[in-house]
Amino acid sequence: MAYSQQTAPFDYVIFGGTGDLTMRKLLPALYNQLRIGHVPEDARIIGTARSELSCDEYRERAREALEHFLPPAHKDAALIERFLKKVHYITLDGTKSDHNWDDLHALLEQSPADRIRVFYFSTAPQLFEAISENLNRFSFITPQSRVVLEKPIGTDSASARAINEGVSRFFKEEQIFRIDHYLGKETVQDIIALRFANPVFNAVWSAEHIQSIQITAAETVGVEGRAAYYDTSGALRDMIQNHLLQVLSLCAMEAPADLGADSVRDAKVKVLKALRPIPADKVAQETLRAQYVAGEMAGSKVPGYLEELGTESATETYAVMRAYVDTPRWKDVPFYIRTAKRSHKKVSEVVVTFKKTASSLFGKDGEHNRLVIRLQPDEGFGLALNIKNPSAADFSLQHGAMDGRFAPADGSLIPDSYERLMLDAVRGYPALFIRRDEVEAAWAWVEPTLQTWAANKVPMTHYPAGSYGPEEARKFIASTGDAWHEDMGA
Ligand code: BG6
Repeated sequence: MAYSQQTAPFDYVIFGGTGDLTMRKLLPALYNQLRIGHVPEDARIIGTARSELSCDEYRERAREALEHFLPPAHKDAALIERFLKKVHYITLDGTKSDHNWDDLHALLEQSPADRIRVFYFSTAPQLFEAISENLNRFSFITPQSRVVLEKPIGTDSASARAINEGVSRFFKEEQIFRIDHYLGKETVQDIIALRFANPVFNAVWSAEHIQSIQITAAETVGVEGRAAYYDTSGALRDMIQNHLLQVLSLCAMEAPADLGADSVRDAKVKVLKALRPIPADKVAQETLRAQYVAGEMAGSKVPGYLEELGTESATETYAVMRAYVDTPRWKDVPFYIRTAKRSHKKVSEVVVTFKKTASSLFGKDGEHNRLVIRLQPDEGFGLALNIKNPSAADFSLQHGAMDGRFAPADGSLIPDSYERLMLDAVRGYPALFIRRDEVEAAWAWVEPTLQTWAANKVPMTHYPAGSYGPEEARKFIASTGDAWHEDMGA
């Protein structure tokens, strides 16, 4: 399908309209897309939630959110007013059939019948089926409707299947857009560009030349106001099952036939299905979990996870898994997938370590070539090379580095991932959304680890807030001959 940036007029109905995600990400994303001319003037955004709020009160909250979360360079008072005129609010409990559906109906009826409708479910996933059922009961689902499902899609394979089944009773698979905001990150899409548009990488992208790949998403934040959700989730479910396995599949997939949604998703799902299972008796060896304890962040003392929570918990705030993709291309290449809350610094990156070339020319081997794809912040890439040491009379080598940036050529800011994804749902362009088989394959792979951890068969390790993680993580990666990026030196 040809990709067009402009969209047809739409009504965006957000369930969970007063929630943190809507305020922090969804409304600012739509505002920014209006700013750059991708949102048509007669588009409407309809927040719904159980809170009794008037439309004006909701607009006021939206205004505060824009003031708070927009980058200063994007704030424009007149544009904010124009945006807020498109925003509406209906008090509605989407799970109850006897609630305010008439009001939603009256609002939607003002638009032509063939207008694109996007229902965005930014609620707990257990509610997805009930909301879909009500949308169907009151004939809201038109052929031009789509539904966006926020993560998490379930907490294990069975619940993911149940959610997928439940929603697909009312929406066809091509109408269902499962969002993973990592795929909306321009830099994550750069993995495809770097790999397949550059022979210099494409030609060496295999076990023959690559020793290992590490994929890290570390954050300085703790669980903030989300403890109730986070404590039932943990790092593995929150970050690895979705975001980091998506990044891994982009790094490991074979070249898709084209960049169409099904070609790319077919290529990714093959990777997920080729992940070598980690059976229960290997979980202690192939994974590591940890919780942060009190420590220091930017010079200030911060409490540990259990203190923040105020209760005992066996939920991990740090997780590492060693994955192998059992395809000829990746024969025995370890992929280390790591995520942490309250880490030393915020960084999401892919580090590709190339094998050393055995060469007698220089007396001793050079260092590993290394490609670092910086997904965020400081979006760009670095390539570590061996060059001649200019101050040595002999041919000894030294480290040389190349650095590139992913910044847009026109100097503008890299768009937030939700901007692209929210409008792709309007466009009906699913390439950057997760297909059902991907979600289920990802759950199937992490499930034995989740179960083994839940049975407490793997010790919980600890790390001080503000550190890089538990000491044990060093031994973990060293056991397959590698080191973490922060321990690699240059
Ligand atoms: C979300 C997780 O999906 O991703 C959060 O639920 C996490 O816990 C967030 O903080 C990280 O996103 P980003 O884009 O800041 O790396």
